[in-house]
Amino acid sequence: MNDFIRIKRLPPYLFSVMDDLQQEVMATGAEVFDFGLGNPDQATAPHIVEALREAVLDTSLHRYAPSKGILPLREAISRWYDRRYQVQIDPEKETIVTIGSKEGLAHLALAVTGAGDTVLVPDPCYPVHHFGFVIADATVKHIPLLPNPDDFLVSLEKTLRTMNPKPKLLVLNFPTNPTTQCVDLPFFVRVIELAKEFGVWVLHDLAYAELVFDDYKAPSILQVPGAKDIAVESYTLSKTYNMAGWRVGFLSGNRTLIGALARMKSYLDYGSFGAVQVAAIAALEGPQDAVVEICKMYQHRRDVMCAGLQAAGWEVEIPKASMFLWLKIPKPFQQMGSLKFAQLLLREAHVRVSPGIGFGECGDGYIRISLVEDEPRMLRALENIKQFMQRAASGTLRS
Ligand SMILES: Cc1ncc(COP(=O)(O)O)c(C=O)c1O
Repeated sequence: MNDFIRIKRLPPYLFSVMDDLQQEVMATGAEVFDFGLGNPDQATAPHIVEALREAVLDTSLHRYAPSKGILPLREAISRWYDRRYQVQIDPEKETIVTIGSKEGLAHLALAVTGAGDTVLVPDPCYPVHHFGFVIADATVKHIPLLPNPDDFLVSLEKTLRTMNPKPKLLVLNFPTNPTTQCVDLPFFVRVIELAKEFGVWVLHDLAYAELVFDDYKAPSILQVPGAKDIAVESYTLSKTYNMAGWRVGFLSGNRTLIGALARMKSYLDYGSFGAVQVAAIAALEGPQDAVVEICKMYQHRRDVMCAGLQAAGWEVEIPKASMFLWLKIPKPFQQMGSLKFAQLLLREAHVRVSPGIGFGECGDGYIRISLVEDEPRMLRALENIKQFMQRAASGTLRS
C-alpha cells in the first residue's frame, strides 16, 4: 500500500472501523441495532420497479448508455426543476446523469480541480465533499459549519476576504448530512453574491431536498437569479425514492462545470444502466405519494427517537429535515471523543451510530443517528440506550 500516493491520503473509511466492531458484537449473539449508514431500509415504490422490469426487456437498452445520461431522463430532470423550483435547465448542456450523486461529486472534483487549487469545504461534511478533492490533489480548507446560517455567512465572507490563495470552489450541502442544518433562499442569495464577488465556483448538494418536515421546504441554490453563472447542484434518487442501490442521480446548473464533468465521464464510464435511467424517469414523473409516505415515515421515526432519547436523559435537537439526528455526546462522555463513544455505545448498548469525527474534526463532539431502523427495533434500541445511560450514571458500565 505504501507506494500508492492517493491511497496514502485516504484513511480507512471510518465506517469500516465500526463494521469490524459490529461483527465482533454480533458474534456474541447480541441483537445489534444499526443506525450507522444512511442506507434507506424500505423498498422502492412498485411503479418504479415495474418501469425497470419493462425497460429491462428493451434490448436497445442493453447497449452502452451515453455517459451523460439518456436524453429523455435529462428532459425529465429539466421538467423536475421547472415543476419544483421554477428553474429552467437546458437538458443538453445544463444537466448530466450520474451514477448516484457520490460518483458525480467525486468526478466533478477530479474534472475541475487539481494540484495548486484550493477548495473551501464545511466541517463537518459528507466525506466525498472533502475526499473527492483530496483524491483530485486539490488543497482542502475547512470552514466550520456554524449552527446559525447568518453566523456561517459572516464567517464565510471573512474567510473569503482573508484567504490566500482564494478558493476555486466552495462546497455546500443543505439540508446537511450529517448536521441536519437547513437554510432558506436568502442564505443562497448571499452565497451567490459572495461567490461572484470573489470569483468562486459553488457546488451545492441537495440530496435531502424532499426529506423535510413540519412544513419546511428546502430551497435549490439554482433558484437564485444568476446562480447558474457559477453554481451547480447535485441531487440523488437514493433517498427520496428509496433507490440507494440503483445508483442514479444528477448534477445540474452551470454549463462549464457540467461540460467538464461530461468530458471527464466520457473517459471514465458509460453511466447508469439505461433501464435504470428509464425507471428514474418513472420516479421523477410518476405519482409522488410514495415520497410523501417516505417523508412521513422519517418524521415519525424522528419523533419516536427524539422522544425516547430525551426520556433517557439525552439532550436532543429536533431536525427539520434529512434522515438523521445529530446528537451532542452526553456530558459524562464528552472527553472521550466520538469514535470511542460510538464504540462504547456499540459494545454496551448494542447500538451502532456514526462517530462525528468521521465527518470532520468539528464533528468530534457528536454522533449521527440514521433513522433506518423500524419502530419496534427503535424502541428496543432506546431501551438499551436508557439502560446504558442509567449504568453510566451509577458508574456500573461494563467496559
Ligand atoms: C449529502 C449526501 N450527498 C450524496 C450522497 C450520496 O448519495 P448517492 O446514493 O446518490 O451516491 C449522500 C449519501 O448518504 C449524502 O448524504
